[in-house]
Amino acid sequence: MILLKFTAVVLLAVCSEAVTRPGVAPLIELNDGKTIPSLGLGTWLGFTKSGDRVPVNDDSVQKAVELAIDAGYRHIDTAAVYSTEEQVGAAIKKKIEEGAVARGDLFVTSKLWNNNHAKSAVVPALKESLARLGLEYLDLYLIHWPIAQTEHSAYADIDYVETWQGMMDAQAAGLAKSIGVSNFNVTQLDRLISMSKVKPAALQIEVNLNLQQTELLNFCKAQNIAVIGYTPFGSLFHGKAAADAPPPRSDDQALLKIADRHHKTVAQINLRYLIELGVIPIPKSVTKKRIEANIEVFDFQLNQQERDVLKSFDKNYRTIAVTQWKDSPYYPFNK
Ligand SMILES: NC(=O)c1ccc[n+]([C@@H]2O[C@H](COP(=O)([O-])OP(=O)(O)OC[C@H]3O[C@@H](n4cnc5c(N)ncnc54)[C@H](OP(=O)(O)O)[C@@H]3O)[C@@H](O)[C@H]2O)c1
Repeated sequence: MILLKFTAVVLLAVCSEAVTRPGVAPLIELNDGKTIPSLGLGTWLGFTKSGDRVPVNDDSVQKAVELAIDAGYRHIDTAAVYSTEEQVGAAIKKKIEEGAVARGDLFVTSKLWNNNHAKSAVVPALKESLARLGLEYLDLYLIHWPIAQTEHSAYADIDYVETWQGMMDAQAAGLAKSIGVSNFNVTQLDRLISMSKVKPAALQIEVNLNLQQTELLNFCKAQNIAVIGYTPFGSLFHGKAAADAPPPRSDDQALLKIADRHHKTVAQINLRYLIELGVIPIPKSVTKKRIEANIEVFDFQLNQQERDVLKSFDKNYRTIAVTQWKDSPYYPFNK
């Protein structure tokens, strides 16, 4: 029995970095014994140029999730604050009814927003997410930010260690199979671990070519915490890059050369590199061709020289800096 489990862990660990079938993201074992697909679909529509959230006023996310499931994705990332939970749920319902997948094949993540950080507010907030998703449980529930706020966006004096007690209640009630955190720094994660009975199974943070997060990745590896990488493309695409964003863009000659060598696109090289760093990327797209291409990254491997080129773009540059929260004692990005 012990040998079987050991073999399974080794297999999963090997699979996550090895070459496997395209369109199928190998599973990685979490520290609580559950498994997570090593690539997922993001469903946040992002910010407008003026910094507001892009309004969700069509069914593009539902269509994207349906296309993703057809393309082989089994891991979908959403959050209460994205206003996309209903569409994610509608797509899942449709695909289950069609017989394309079973609920047990899917890994669905959602996140607790800052206004529900009181211990007693966590389970009710999760139940609201489940109602919007039309699901009975989440595979992963994350504290979205270490910062607590009131309904009116003022800071609330609630320690994330208290919030974590509510997350543990949610897991004990079977409403979330695994629990974790997002946007925590090493100090916050270390403190949470030392003060809690349950260790986070996953940390979701920004990881891309300009922000490779070596310190957090090493910490999580040592603690056996899975790292899910958000905004995996960072500033790769001209349309999304801020004026001060460091290179590369998708027409970078060194990247094009690597892409050519593997008969892949620069976007695929970018995702493959993150996977080889040990990160689970969750690229967002509502475009059929891109959704399909973004998961075709499990049939090739980069060599050391190529990884060195990709490492050279690591400039500690953050795409999602949430500087409006800089004065919070829980702001995670000061270090
Ligand atoms: N925990 C957190 O605080 C947090 C913060 C941010 C994001 N997230 C999660 O992470 C997910 C991904 O991050 P993100 O949405 O910020 O950024 P992203 O996935 O790095 O980039 C999304 C953008 O890239 C475009 N794109 C996708 N694939 C492409 C390809 N192959 N070629 C060219 N363009 C491509 C998309 O366009 P189209 O859609 O038009 O195709 C979209 O404009 C989010 O959706 C969300 O689920 C979490």
